[in-house]
Amino acid sequence: MTTSREVRLMSRPEGMPVADNFEVATVDLSAPTAGQIRVRNRFMSVDPYMRGRMYDRPSYVPPFQIGQPLQGHAIGEIVESHADGYAVGDMVTSMLGWREEFVVDPTVFAAMPGMFDKLPTLAGISPSAFLGVLGMPGMTAYAGLLQIGAPKPGETVFVSGGAGAVGSVVAQIAKLKGCTVIATAGSAEKCDWLRSLGVDHAINYKTGNLLDAVRSAAPKGIDVYFDNVGGEHLEVAIELANPFARFAECGMIAQYNATEVVPGPRNMILVVGKRLKIQGFIVSDFASLRDQFMTEMGGWIAEGRIKSEETVMEGIDQAPAAFMGLFTGGNTGKMVVKL
Ligand SMILES: NC(=O)c1ccc[n+]([C@@H]2O[C@H](COP(=O)([O-])OP(=O)(O)OC[C@H]3O[C@@H](n4cnc5c(N)ncnc54)[C@H](OP(=O)(O)O)[C@@H]3O)[C@@H](O)[C@H]2O)c1
Repeated sequence: MTTSREVRLMSRPEGMPVADNFEVATVDLSAPTAGQIRVRNRFMSVDPYMRGRMYDRPSYVPPFQIGQPLQGHAIGEIVESHADGYAVGDMVTSMLGWREEFVVDPTVFAAMPGMFDKLPTLAGISPSAFLGVLGMPGMTAYAGLLQIGAPKPGETVFVSGGAGAVGSVVAQIAKLKGCTVIATAGSAEKCDWLRSLGVDHAINYKTGNLLDAVRSAAPKGIDVYFDNVGGEHLEVAIELANPFARFAECGMIAQYNATEVVPGPRNMILVVGKRLKIQGFIVSDFASLRDQFMTEMGGWIAEGRIKSEETVMEGIDQAPAAFMGLFTGGNTGKMVVKL
C-alpha cells in the first residue's frame, strides 16, 4: 500500500474558477497485482477545454463529477510492473493526470485509443513536449490550420491566442507554409516572443484598438483566421476577412467563464456576402492524421523550424493555480505542472 495525492473538483465554478472549487486529497493506493503497473506521473497538463467539463451539461466529453478527481493528459513513469511488455522506467502517456500516482491494468485501454500509450523516446526532447507541441495542442494546431484553414503561400493568416500552446504552433506552421502571420497575445513580452518565432505582426490585444491594429497589419485582408479566443477577435476577423476566407474555430476562451449567454458576432451578416467558410472542430476529428503529425512535427522540431516554450509550475498543489492561470494569461506556450 502507498499513498498518492489527487486534485478533486469540489464545486462547479461560477464565472472564473477559484481555489475553493478544488481540493487536493490524499488517497491510499493498493499495490499492483498480476497484470498491473504502478505509474508515477512526472508531468500533467492543464487545458482550457477542462473548464467546459466543469459545467454540468452535455458536451463532446462528459462533465467532471463533484468530489471526484479531475482527468487530463499526463506523462508518467512506470515505477512497479507486473505486466508483460511494461518495464520499470518506461514512460507512458495517459488521461490519468491530476494525480501523482495510479495503479492500472494497461490492457483495459486496448479499445480506447489515446487513453494510454507507451511514449516514444526522442533524443533531446523533454517528455513534457508530448503534452504540448508533440501532443494534443500541437496536433490541434496542425490539423485545424492545415485541414480547415488550408493556407496557401502568400496568404495572410490571423491567429488569436498566438502565444499559447496551440496558437504559437499555428503561427509557426503558417510561416512554414509561406504566409504572412498576424498573431495576438496579452502582453508585450509575449509579443516579443512571437516576433522571435518569425511572426510578422504581433499585437498586444490589451492595448489600443484591436480592429485598427489588425487592419493596419493586414492591408490586403485576412485569408485564414484560426480562432482560439472568440468575442471581439472573431468580429475583427469577420470584418477584415477576404471573400472565401476560411475560419478554423478551435476555441473561444474569452467566453469560457461567462455567466450569461454571450451575443454572437454583431457583423455576422458579412459572412454571406464574403462567402466565409467557418468551421468548428475537435482535435479528435483528425485522429487519422496522428502518425503523419508525429512524423512531420518531429521533423520540424529536429530541424529547428518549430520552437516551443513551456510555463512549468511545480507540484500537484499548484495544479489548480496553473489551470486558473490559463484564464489570466499566466502561460507562455504550454502550461504544464511538474510532479
Ligand atoms: N478544438 C479543439 O480540439 C481544441 C484543442 C485544444 C485547445 N483548444 C482551444 O484552443 C484554445 C487555446 O488552447 P491552449 O491549450 O493553446 O491554451 P493557451 O492558449 O496555451 O492558454 C490560454 C491563453 O488564452 C489567453 N486568454 C485567456 N483569456 C483570454 C481572453 N478573455 N481573451 C483573449 N485571450 C485570452 C491567455 O493568453 P493572453 O496572455 O494572450 O491573454 C492564455 O494564456 C482554447 O480556446 C482551447 O479551448 C481547442
